[in-house]
Amino acid sequence: MKFSLSASLLALAASAVQAQQPQNQTGPFFLHITGKDNKDIDGYAGACHAGAAIEGLCYSNGPKPSGDNLNYASFFFNYTGNQNIDGAEVGFLSWNLQLAQGSDPAFVPSPMSFTFSTTSNVAQPMFGTGSSQQSVGFDKDGKLFVYGALDDATFKPDNRPPNPYQPKAYYNWFVCWQYFTSYYYHAVGWATTLPPHNPTCQAVDITQVMI
Ligand SMILES: *[C@@H]1O[C@H](CO)[C@@H](O)[C@H](O)[C@H]1NC(C)=O
Ligand SMILES: *[C@@H]1O[C@H](CO)[C@@H](O)[C@H](O)[C@H]1NC(C)=O
Repeated sequence: MKFSLSASLLALAASAVQAQQPQNQTGPFFLHITGKDNKDIDGYAGACHAGAAIEGLCYSNGPKPSGDNLNYASFFFNYTGNQNIDGAEVGFLSWNLQLAQGSDPAFVPSPMSFTFSTTSNVAQPMFGTGSSQQSVGFDKDGKLFVYGALDDATFKPDNRPPNPYQPKAYYNWFVCWQYFTSYYYHAVGWATTLPPHNPTCQAVDITQVMI
């Protein structure tokens, strides 16, 4: 009981610190999606409606988005400078939810976090207006990675690893047919372990293309 109380207080303090910290933002940029094995996969990511102020990260085949309203395909990256992997800043992806014309403010920044499933290892990147943020970054080649720090694949019984946290860049991105909030979308998925449970998943790279 005592432990869980102090743990939640710590979490509260941590989120308060995070909220106050100045953040630098890069963007807007597109997210170019290319198949690792299947070269027919070549397209761009776009925010797709998944509920009130909630969007998934959908895949569309084809050339760079163009036209008057590029908001659906425009993303941002926020970081504080506190964490990096191989010189790449760790932060979070964000998408601007546009409000009705004439509203003030005109948009609400919506950070990306993962929605995990109890019956699959494929998580969905979702943009919402809450405070959840998935730690990610762009490496020197502009490829999107996920910050991971704990790998239990080498654990041994009764033998506490001396340094369990080893920050590392992971690239388990896929595009898969996915069911979420009653929609069936061809969307970006994150496999927490390999291979992905969903048989429609195809491995991809996601690369930042500045607008
Ligand atoms: C990201 O950083 C920008 C610039 O500091 C800030 O205006 C915005 O609110 C931040 N986004 C989120 C979701 O915190
Ligand atoms: C944020 O941007 C400003 C202006 O470019 C720069 O001086 C500062 O060092 C940046 N902070 C981080 C954490 O990168």
